Amino acid sequence: MAEQVTVKFHEYKIPSKGTVVLFAAGKKNTGPGLAKLDKQCNGQISRAIEVSSFEGDKGKHIEILSPANLELARILLIGVGNREISSEFDWMNIGGKISALVKGDPEGTVTILVDQETGRHAITPENCAALATGFQLARYRFDKYKKAADKNGKNKHRVKTLNIAVNEPDKAERAYTRLDATRAGVFVARDLVNEPGNSLGPVEFAHRTRKLEKLGVSVKILDENEMAGLGMNALLAVGQGSEQESRLAVMQWNGLDSKDKPLAIVGKGVSFDSGGISIKPSSGMEDMKGDMGGAACVTGLMHTLARRKAKVNVVGVIGLVENMPDGKAQRPGDVVTSMSGQTIEVINTDAEGRLVLADALTYTIETLKPRLVIDLATLTGAILVALGKEYAGLFSNNDRLAGRLLKAGEKSGEKLWRMPLGKKYDKLIDSRIADMKNTGGRLAGSTTAAQFLKRYVGETPWAHIDIAGTAMSSPKTDINTSWGSGFGVRLLDRFIEENYE
Ligand code: BES
Ligand code: ZN
Ligand code: MG
Repeated sequence: MAEQVTVKFHEYKIPSKGTVVLFAAGKKNTGPGLAKLDKQCNGQISRAIEVSSFEGDKGKHIEILSPANLELARILLIGVGNREISSEFDWMNIGGKISALVKGDPEGTVTILVDQETGRHAITPENCAALATGFQLARYRFDKYKKAADKNGKNKHRVKTLNIAVNEPDKAERAYTRLDATRAGVFVARDLVNEPGNSLGPVEFAHRTRKLEKLGVSVKILDENEMAGLGMNALLAVGQGSEQESRLAVMQWNGLDSKDKPLAIVGKGVSFDSGGISIKPSSGMEDMKGDMGGAACVTGLMHTLARRKAKVNVVGVIGLVENMPDGKAQRPGDVVTSMSGQTIEVINTDAEGRLVLADALTYTIETLKPRLVIDLATLTGAILVALGKEYAGLFSNNDRLAGRLLKAGEKSGEKLWRMPLGKKYDKLIDSRIADMKNTGGRLAGSTTAAQFLKRYVGETPWAHIDIAGTAMSSPKTDINTSWGSGFGVRLLDRFIEENYE
């Protein structure tokens, strides 16, 4: 969606035009770039450092506009502190910060001079790749519906080329190509989440997954008749009040020659959640176009895996429905029989995500026989009450799997917090007339939702990630200013690369 900058890695050379970016750590930066430029502009940079008492602290920067004797538009000094910036995620954030600072460059060219030894930092080619990726992630805009003025106006990012001068440009280039596949998947997910409900219903969403075929993913789409044949009545019940038909999309990436059991990633895809007959209050209801954040993440992840030709077998399954009130809609009190054979008393039609996931999980486990299954869903408002927008909630029946996910969360900066499961919670969803009910009352709302899902996974190692607080309406960060964050793509890409390739 967003227009990308062209990224070029090249040998160290100080440019004559545009913006130059340098890193500084304390007053120790004696790198050749800074020294040379400072001399050329008669010490203007060192004077700027003096008067601003800039010491290169992490997160601080100074800007010197139109430096004397030079044709440069500006010189930007970015503080990286002392050994505080180390991870890939840190460098992505620095890249994002630079993107925001250089937005209006008149020449459209930004050159980052990487003096390898900056204070106590050794800046690697991999760091530079992460930096460039962060720059791109930060540039994302969902502006396809901005037809007037602003699109080409003053808020438009004017940078067209990002040059990064680094000692080993080929190595940086390779690392960047790898990370750019992740970036592309994040953009796919953001685009899907940002798209309004009138243009992205279940049918259109399913259609969009077909784009993955070009990358070598096999895509199968089940329509309502096929799902009815399989007994997926829980999923179908959610969609029955909508004019739009429901779909299940199955995306398979086989990166291994062998027939190894796949990893399965399942996503909730409610293209719009009005609540159904248990209708939501109108304030903020527009946000429920994002109730397909789980399905968006799965689709973005499949895009990334295929694009980088990941050496792993992964299947993505997404349940696509629209939850609307109507004469044909399901009612509170209805009982439905899920694909697993278990029956559900529908107490609240707004607790629909778990009905969709129940059948999507059963389908996945029965027909694809995965070695593990991870589901992502904007499942409960209660997870926002518990964790805010900082962490997504993690529930799992397997400590090893949970541990690996938590670690990938720390590394990617898409953080998870493990939440409890247990027999006492499970009792809260027992029903008087059916096998279970779809709500557990006021307490522990995210856990009772997870307990419900647990009844559909049997012994398969399983993790459920509640992303209601992190997938949409997220606070702006250095690498994301969009409403839909694309949460989970970077997390799971890393989780898969580190543990299964
Ligand atoms: N889609 C919502 C959850 C949600 C809330 C996502 C806020 C994003 C932001 C979900 O379908 C829902 O409505 N859950 C109910 C469950 C309740 C009726 C048991 C909720 O959280 O209130
Ligand atoms: Zn919902
Ligand atoms: Mg709901």
